[in-house]
Amino acid sequence: MMTPPARRTVLGTGAAFLLAGCSKYGDSNSSSAPTATTSPISSPKSSAGRELAEKSDIPVGGGKIFKDQKVVVTQPKKDEFKAFSAICTHQGCTVSKVADGTIDCPCHGSKYRITDASVVAGPAPRPLPAKKITVKGKSIFLA
Ligand code: FES
Repeated sequence: MMTPPARRTVLGTGAAFLLAGCSKYGDSNSSSAPTATTSPISSPKSSAGRELAEKSDIPVGGGKIFKDQKVVVTQPKKDEFKAFSAICTHQGCTVSKVADGTIDCPCHGSKYRITDASVVAGPAPRPLPAKKITVKGKSIFLA
C-alpha cells in the first residue's frame, strides 16, 4: 500500500535490462535500432566469441553498423566479410551509415571504403581499425 509507483518502475526496468544483458549481449538494447531484425535469443551458442549477426544481415556491397558493439561489418563481395571499429578516427563519433561503398561518419563527413576502411573523404586521419570476426555456418562472431 505504501509502495511508491516510481520505485516499482525503476526496479522493473533494471531487471529487464539485466535479463537482456545476460541472455544476449547488446543486441536488443532498443534505443533506436534503424532496421531491427528479430534477435535470435533462443540459441545461446557461445563457442567462438559473441554472435554478432547472421551473414544474411549484411548486404553484399554494403554493410551494417552494430552500435552497441561499436563494430561495422561489411560484405564487399559475396561471402567476403570484413569488420572494423565503428568509431571514427577523427574525433570519435560512431559512424552512422554504409552506402555507395563507403562507411560514413555523420559528424564531419569522413568516409571510409568498405573493403579496407581506408579514408576516402573527410578529415579522418587514418583508416578505421580492423576487428576480428569469425564466420561460421550462417553466423558472424566477434572474436
Ligand atoms: Fe567523424 Fe569528425 S568525428 S568526421
